[in-house]
Amino acid sequence: MADMPLKGALKDEQLAVLEGGFGVLCDGETIKEVGLFANLLDRNKSENLEVIELEGVVALPGFIDSHTHICFAGSRARDYAMRNAGKTYLEMAEQGGGIWYTVTLTRLASQSELETGIKTRADRHLAEGVTTIEVKSGYGLSLSEELKMLRAIKQSNAEHQADFIPTCLAAHMLPKDFEGSKTEYLAMMAKELFPKLKEEGLANRIDIFVESSAFSPEEGKVYLEEAKALGFELTVHADQFTVGGSALAVEVGAVSADHLEASTEEEIQILAKSETIATALPGASLGLGCPFTPARKLLDAGGSLAIASDWNPGSAPMGDLLMQAAVLGTIQKLTNAEVLAGITYRAAAALSLKDRGTLQAGMLADLAIFPCSDYKEILYQQGKLKPSMVIKRGLKVN
Ligand code: NIG
Ligand code: FE
Repeated sequence: MADMPLKGALKDEQLAVLEGGFGVLCDGETIKEVGLFANLLDRNKSENLEVIELEGVVALPGFIDSHTHICFAGSRARDYAMRNAGKTYLEMAEQGGGIWYTVTLTRLASQSELETGIKTRADRHLAEGVTTIEVKSGYGLSLSEELKMLRAIKQSNAEHQADFIPTCLAAHMLPKDFEGSKTEYLAMMAKELFPKLKEEGLANRIDIFVESSAFSPEEGKVYLEEAKALGFELTVHADQFTVGGSALAVEVGAVSADHLEASTEEEIQILAKSETIATALPGASLGLGCPFTPARKLLDAGGSLAIASDWNPGSAPMGDLLMQAAVLGTIQKLTNAEVLAGITYRAAAALSLKDRGTLQAGMLADLAIFPCSDYKEILYQQGKLKPSMVIKRGLKVN
């Protein structure tokens, strides 16, 4: 994935596929060199070298899931069944189900129970080649409960081999027990929670759900500008059911705008002209039975496209990034290069991470290694071909 453009459509011919006898030389956590295996061995003979020799495999940069909600308690299997029996996501949210149900159960869970949930889900992700996982709060929705979630994410990061990138989503919806308006809720979070995030090193990223059931673009603008003034990076749940979020994301200079299932030609143009990374969440389309993000159009218009799982108990319970990315590719007619870029270096850009996403000297030694000799097998098998080995920061994952 080295030296590929951040924006626009990609052809498979643009992939720098190194075929036949190549190796990756790692030094501690980072890649020192990518080159011919025999040469690497030869030149490093005297070193204290651990050699892993594999044949008939494809090594890719470890996958990056730039949007998840894997910190939660409970299941929404009942919601899923009801939705498939005819109720819409918004109808269920309006009737007191949806996100609020998970908030109730997450508030009842202890910090350590949340940590167990995060680490269990991350175990599966890591085994499937996902070496970096963004994790949002957003099921606490009070000062103390949002802090509990973000502390659980921070503690899990210290204990788990995968890297977790925390994001504060206190603006997921107006909690039913807050006495005041949406504007007052957001102002309270900005005033009270933002300084705590800095103090405790809990998150550098602020997210908001811009939607009729959550917050308007006008409410979001004030909140995000406050976050920006304090030096936070911004991201937006945008255009999932109705538009408005993506234009706001671009206006405030958000690093990414995620969802975009409802984006029209106008939003596609706004995003494509901006530096904001468009992020498709095919897991939410599959979970809700909704349209997919217009990924083909976004790329053809010159935009950048990341693909993330949105793993959460409500709209995206599956949590299989590779399967979802492969399916998005089939439905939206994306090349192998576009899909793989979306879960590697373009996803890294959606998290402002410059040290991962490609296999190049100086990058983190994060690798997903698949048991096939042609890289095209990986998406062809639509997520059923799992890595035979995963390396995270230079260490084998068991
Ligand atoms: O990204 N859209 C808002 N938030 C999540 C869903 C969270 C939930 O339903 O619990 C999403 O799809
Ligand atoms: Fe989400």
